[in-house]
Formats: sequence, C-alpha cells, structure tokens
Amino acid sequence: MIKPIGSDELKPCFVEDADQRQALAQEAESLPSITISSQAAGNAVMMGAGYFNPLQGFMNVADAMGAAEKMTLTDGSFFPVPVMCLVKDTAAIGDAKRIALRDPNITGEPVLAIMDITAIETVSDEQMAAMTQKVYRTEDPEHVGVAAFNGQGRVAISGPIQVLNFSYFKSDFPDTFRTAVEIRNEIQQRGWKKVVAFQTRNPMHRAHEELCHMAMERLDCDGLVIHMLLGKLKKGDIPAPVRDAAIRKMVDQYFPPNSAMITGYGFDMLYAGPREAVLHAYFRQNMGATHFIVGRDHAGVGDYYGAFDAQTIFDEEVPVGALDIEIFKADHTAYSKKLNKVVMMREAPDHVKEDFVLLSGTKVREMLGNGIAPPPEFSRPEVAKILMEYYQSLNH
Ligand code: ADX
Repeated sequence: MIKPIGSDELKPCFVEDADQRQALAQEAESLPSITISSQAAGNAVMMGAGYFNPLQGFMNVADAMGAAEKMTLTDGSFFPVPVMCLVKDTAAIGDAKRIALRDPNITGEPVLAIMDITAIETVSDEQMAAMTQKVYRTEDPEHVGVAAFNGQGRVAISGPIQVLNFSYFKSDFPDTFRTAVEIRNEIQQRGWKKVVAFQTRNPMHRAHEELCHMAMERLDCDGLVIHMLLGKLKKGDIPAPVRDAAIRKMVDQYFPPNSAMITGYGFDMLYAGPREAVLHAYFRQNMGATHFIVGRDHAGVGDYYGAFDAQTIFDEEVPVGALDIEIFKADHTAYSKKLNKVVMMREAPDHVKEDFVLLSGTKVREMLGNGIAPPPEFSRPEVAKILMEYYQSLNH
C-alpha cells in the first residue's frame, strides 16, 4: 500500500485509548484554556485523524513561514501550507505550558485537544502578508480565504497536541466522516490496490460524475474514494448534509456496486486554489489513495486563479519526490450535444462552445431556486430534486 508521508505508519494525534482519553479530558478541565479559531480547530481535527501526518502539532512561525514560502519546514520536511493556531491574545492562558484548546464550533466550547506549548510568538504584519501572498497568491481582503486567515489574530501558539475528539464531524456525519486511518483500513480490507480520490465541496453534477468514471477507467483503478469537505464554506456554497445526500443518491444510481466509497473530512475550505490542491493531494496520500483528481479551477474562488494553475503547481513548485501520490490532471469536462456524452473538452477539438451544455454556477443556483431542474445533461434528475428542495427551503 502507498506509504503515508513522513513515516511508515500513520501517527494520528487522536488519543486512541479510551481510558487515557478520559483521563486527559478530566485533566483538561483543570488546565488553563483558550478558545481557538475554526480554522485551527479544523487543523486539530486533521492532525487527530492522521491526515496531516507526520505533523504532531501546531507549527511555530519559522515552520509556518517555511511551509508558505517553499513548502518546506525547518527540519527539511515537506508541508504545503502553514498549520497554525493563531489567536488574538493569550490573556486566558498566561504563561501556562500545558493548556486546553476549546472548540469554537460547538455550543459550550468543549475541549478539543490538549497542547504542550513550545512557543508563543507574535507574527509581524510583514510575515502575515508574506504567508498570505504565497499561500493564496493574493492579499486581497475580499478573497474569502484571505479574510479568514487574516481575521484570526496575530499570536501564534505552537507545540504538540493530543486530540480528544473530532469536533462536530463524527456526530453530525456519522456515515461520512472518516479518519485517514479508517480510510486506509477500509481500502486494505477491500483489497484495492489502485485507488483514485476525488475532492469535492459541491454536489456532484454530471461533469463531476463523469470525471470520476474517466479517471477510474483511464487509470484502471480498483476503486474511487469520494472525499468531501465537511467543514465551513463560504456563503452560497451548498451545506454538507445536502451535498452528502445528493452524492449518495448519485453513487447509488450511477456507479457499479462497491466501486466507490463515500467519505468526508473535517476541515474548513481555504479557497487557496493551487496550494490547497497540493494540501489535498498530501492528505489523500496519507489516507491511502494512489491517485488524485485535479480538474478545472480546483479549490478556486472568483477569478483569482487560472483554470489549471492547480495542476501546474505540481510540476512547478512542489519539491521533487515530495509526494508519491500521482495527479490525474483533467481538462474541463462538459456534455457534448454532438456526442451525447460528457467529454473532456480538449478531446473534442472539432467542437465549438455551443456544442457543449455549459451553465454557470449562478445560473444553476437561480434555476434550482425557482424550482426548475437543470437539463439532465448537466444534473442527474435525482440530484436536481434534492438541490431544488434545499434551495426552495431557503425561500421560506
Ligand atoms: S473544489 O473546490 O472542491 O475543487 P468542486 O467540488 O467543484 O470544487 O470540484 C471538485 C473537483 O472536480 C476539482 O478537482 C475540480 O477541479 C473538478 N471539477 C469540477 N467541475 C469540473 C469541470 N466541469 N471540468 C473539470 N473538472 C471539474
């Protein structure tokens, strides 16, 4: 099986032993504590689940700068984005060395993890700007990911963590949330050797569905792991429970039995386009996928990134040999009215734009909101139904 990054076995930060976990939870109640940002909580959940292996805790500023600038930490290891715990101030914890991190995403802010502090540093404006520019390729405060990153505060708390739960992800998405350890185990149990992973934050339309079929066929894969983001999204994106239902319906109807696993991970969307694509590939290797699909405008937002920047970054910026997982670089897929099927547009060179069924996201949302199903060439009717119900519930 493909190896995790940085170690032979995954070393998740979640405390597996129930007794030990309970003892730590008890200890946590008497520790000084601080409520962390939603992004930091997502980082903790990812470390807990083994996705960010071999990271064992939050980066200090030197490591975060190295990750942002050259995807390399001070010890020479590879990591594509800063993994930070940024807070506005540390009054709540004083000079404590061992603290509890509280979860901002659950009522009552229960403890998510315990941290042994190795450093508390103030990030300068220049450092913050440099990291933002490198990771997001812009410092525009209108960029939703940039705004979220910069809105957290300027004090970086770093050090190893012991994760005590998976925030709201396990309880809210019991059938879908999986740790990297669980996905690895399931891949092994199924006996899959060649496994392609599909990242998504959207319900899957025909273009997504066929992209997965094409990748599976062309790579001759044993299986597909649909791995959806379950954390926070920008306004207007479709909430995870609705997406989850739509994806399950589609797989049920249009994929051969046992060919696809439907799974998800607990992390807020960064909208960092190319950099996020590298992070996506990183944690798909950790969960045991051998291949990863990167299509058009992967993890993009607005028009901040070129349509295929998230593919070229793997050749231009990722250090050679850093990843074993292979990238399936897909062109824009769309339904061809001439061929009566979804194709990669570059593979239909005789077509003009009008030969494809192309609808903007805005147009699709408008149709669904008005109770109009997009054409079946664009969305499966069963998927459209679920989405229409959701959009119409917003109007009431
Ligand atoms: S993402 O932010 O999670 O990347 P989305 O769920 O829309 O957004 O996309 C999931 C994956 O499908 C990405 O790899 C993206 O590039 C790819 N993709 C989505 N739509 C198309 C399309 N029409 N053509 C090619 N690739 C696509």
